[in-house]
Amino acid sequence: MSSNYSIFVKLGSNKELSKLELSVLLKKIGVENIAFTEWMDYILLKLNRNSFTKFFKQLDKTGSIVKAGYINSSVNIEKEDEWKLKIKDHLVMNINKHSSDKNKQLKVALDVQTKSLELRNNIVEFIRTTITNYSKDMKLLTKILGIKKTYSQLTPYQFYKENLHRRGFEIICFVVKSKLIFGITNWVTNPLLDIKQDEGRQTRLFTHGTSIKLSRTLVFLSEVSDEGLILDPFCGTGTILIEALKQKIRTIGVDKDPKCFRATKENLNAFSLKYPAKAKMKDKWVVYSQDSRDLGKTLTDKNLDAIVTEPHLGPFLKDLPSKEEARETMKSLEKLYIKVLQEGSSFLKNNRKIVFIIPVYRYPDGLEVNPNIERIANQCSLLIQERSEFFHVSVPVQIGRKHNVINRYLVIFTNHSS
Ligand SMILES: C[S@@+](CC[C@H](N)C(=O)[O-])C[C@H]1O[C@@H](n2cnc3c(N)ncnc32)[C@H](O)[C@@H]1O
Repeated sequence: MSSNYSIFVKLGSNKELSKLELSVLLKKIGVENIAFTEWMDYILLKLNRNSFTKFFKQLDKTGSIVKAGYINSSVNIEKEDEWKLKIKDHLVMNINKHSSDKNKQLKVALDVQTKSLELRNNIVEFIRTTITNYSKDMKLLTKILGIKKTYSQLTPYQFYKENLHRRGFEIICFVVKSKLIFGITNWVTNPLLDIKQDEGRQTRLFTHGTSIKLSRTLVFLSEVSDEGLILDPFCGTGTILIEALKQKIRTIGVDKDPKCFRATKENLNAFSLKYPAKAKMKDKWVVYSQDSRDLGKTLTDKNLDAIVTEPHLGPFLKDLPSKEEARETMKSLEKLYIKVLQEGSSFLKNNRKIVFIIPVYRYPDGLEVNPNIERIANQCSLLIQERSEFFHVSVPVQIGRKHNVINRYLVIFTNHSS
């Protein structure tokens, strides 16, 4: 198989989580093995033509990957004349491609990744003068973004606020060992869409919601394809369900709190109304108000493709509880998870995933108190996924912010195939 398309992927602030998603993405598009370089926050890899096209189509479904694009060329960094010539050609080609009558002001952004500040300044300065001079010659109005007194890379938010996807392009340079590698950003995660979706929600209950980005990641990691069926047995306000529905996955939500049940219904109704095929969307979801420890009564004849959830994580706390209280809480959560997963997994098709989050209390003396994952797996006849297919990620993966009272781990279980 020929591997002749080079791409770069920028990982999110939780690199392990992004690598896990990237690994699932590659598996999904049929990649069997991959040569890659991990460089700062980036992964550089090669794909064949077929995988290359499929790759970019999948990126919108991920939640933690920041951006990706093509690598055009690489040159020896020692040969300054050579790299300057190549970068100039690359810039001129892209300016010509992106400037048109409609594009009154062309915008260009830079992302320069090197550990040497001197080298970075040299590259940034060269690119800046090349663009300025060429624009002057061609009588083009070009705005260079991110370079004022000091250089700073655009955030995804700025990328879309500046309309860069319509009004210009971003050039990317990496200096990896002795090579200067450069290319063009082709995809950036769009936080404006998530903000719009969040503001457009009918009902928000802050203590009951999973973030949109994390929900998208969880759904993606479940590896369910179009028209599959996902269960969220602790559906809160329905964020995971909406992310699944956006991927054309059918969903069942369950929550024992009537307030959450109503919130989920309102959110899903509002989402369905905005969706182009309104009538069809209404048939793709159902929500139940009940205790998930009794799931069996409700699911009866359902065949699930995955269970995806951020479950109840214990009482809302401002400070760490005493170790005794923490142990008690975790014991009761473990019992809850075992019961719900025993009920839910009996409706899973063979060899399917349960993407689950468990809470962890971490004490200053290094003690961690959490529900026992091995015991949950044993009691529910599940296997625990220990690593990713590619990129050597150990699973469970820690998620969430360090200063939170409760830390969280993302766990992936698989049921046995018979
Ligand atoms: C962290 S929230 C879930 C957020 C949700 N995944 C979302 O996307 O918005 C946990 C939810 O579990 C619900 N819950 C707690 N115990 C439950 C049980 N035994 N059965 C069903 N739901 C339960 C709570 O009412 C709460 O809404």
